[in-house]
Amino acid sequence: MLTNDKEYEKFSIDRFYKNYLNGPRLFKSRDALEPSYIPEDLPHRDNEIEQIASKTACALRGETPSNFLCYGMTGTGKTATIRFVSQKLANYASDCKPWWIYINCSIVSTPYRILAHIYNTIVKKDEIPPTGLPKDVIFKKLLGLLDNKVDNSICFLVLDEIDMIADKKNGNEILYDLTRLNENLDFCRTCLIGISNKLNFKENLDPRVISSLGEDHITFLTYDAKELGDILNERAKIAFYDDIIKEGVIPLCAALAAKEHGDARKALQLLRKAGEIAERTQNKHITGDHVKKAQDELERDHTIDYIKGMPLQAQVVLMSIYLISRFRQNKLTISGDVYEVHGELTSKIPGLRSLTRRRISDYINELCLAGIITAQKKSVGFHGNTKIIKLVVETKVLEGIFKESDKLRSFLNYKPIMIQNNKVRINKDVFRKLN
Ligand SMILES: Nc1ncnc2c1ncn2[C@@H]1O[C@H](COP(=O)(O)OP(=O)(O)OP(=O)(O)O)[C@@H](O)[C@H]1O
Ligand SMILES: [Mg+2]
Repeated sequence: MLTNDKEYEKFSIDRFYKNYLNGPRLFKSRDALEPSYIPEDLPHRDNEIEQIASKTACALRGETPSNFLCYGMTGTGKTATIRFVSQKLANYASDCKPWWIYINCSIVSTPYRILAHIYNTIVKKDEIPPTGLPKDVIFKKLLGLLDNKVDNSICFLVLDEIDMIADKKNGNEILYDLTRLNENLDFCRTCLIGISNKLNFKENLDPRVISSLGEDHITFLTYDAKELGDILNERAKIAFYDDIIKEGVIPLCAALAAKEHGDARKALQLLRKAGEIAERTQNKHITGDHVKKAQDELERDHTIDYIKGMPLQAQVVLMSIYLISRFRQNKLTISGDVYEVHGELTSKIPGLRSLTRRRISDYINELCLAGIITAQKKSVGFHGNTKIIKLVVETKVLEGIFKESDKLRSFLNYKPIMIQNNKVRINKDVFRKLN
């Protein structure tokens, strides 16, 4: 048996755990950097907190607050602020304890599941099955439950990411039903709070829904770098031991997140990842280098998620580009060839049909917009235009994604016929390449 100890070093899980336990401890409370963590204080959201508190305070006296909407870009603290106010409000409620039901509409999105979710949350068990009952039966059961269980109190129904249902065909129907709950209740009263990061989501709504959902809204402004720095400083005090973070680290995380429309989630992710990288590499401090590495890793993770979430046809277009650049000696990839290789691949993947040049071109544009490839337009005389395409994502990352795909895995080493025959396609014409 041939072994080469120098080249092949086996991973030792025992050594790994020993090193980990003996290594420096940076995190005092890792949870404090989790997206679900609600801090004691939310810097720079006083205005929004005041508005929400004012709108909801009458629930403490058993009166019904008007429905309202919260808008703001992603990571501006909408969900955190609503949760924060709901906790505070609960501290001041004595006789009429309000109920808060959270519905994340990106997860619970069908009318049936929304009603079932509200019902099951109130009874604290999965009494309504995930499918099966007629919707009007659940609706009646829910009305009965609200009157019995919530009784004379207010039930806040928070529809987080409400745009996810507003975009759907039957979105109007469920929103309309929810806005009409109060008309059918004898004791309990509901208040709807919609949260959205898409400002134009109302375009798809029925005017009746818009008018009862509330013309009233609270806008969450984006954070600037200084504000993000304050948020991070507060959170770092809870999450890390003292003197772990080197000077300049928090301003760097804040500046990088501020570039992305002031997203506090991104800022916190960066700090957390930087801490994890420092810990992984047995460093006692978090430095600017760790933040830069964290930024690279997050970008890579984001790209991987994006590609995995693309439709199969778009993935096949990307795979065609990968195969051409891998097997063509000069790596030159032009749009006509992508069309050709895409056709070759789709003929081998059951259930997938070939696409028109136009659709392929659309996918190429989308991949460009997502920063996965670049495509430069080039005029080729009377043959019209073509695009010179280059991969931006590392090939290793792509190979990892394709390996995980049942449909694409077997093509990783497929050499396109076009390349085997040393041909190039420009628009409708095929040319043999000159060497
Ligand atoms: N002012 C703040 N102070 C402390 N932490 C904050 C603040 N604003 C946001 N965060 C934190 O940033 C992260 C993102 O916030 P949140 O989830 O509330 O954003 P969002 O506006 O609901 O975003 P999306 O539209 O993507 O759902 C959370 O971890 C939250 O705790
Ligand atoms: Mg949110």
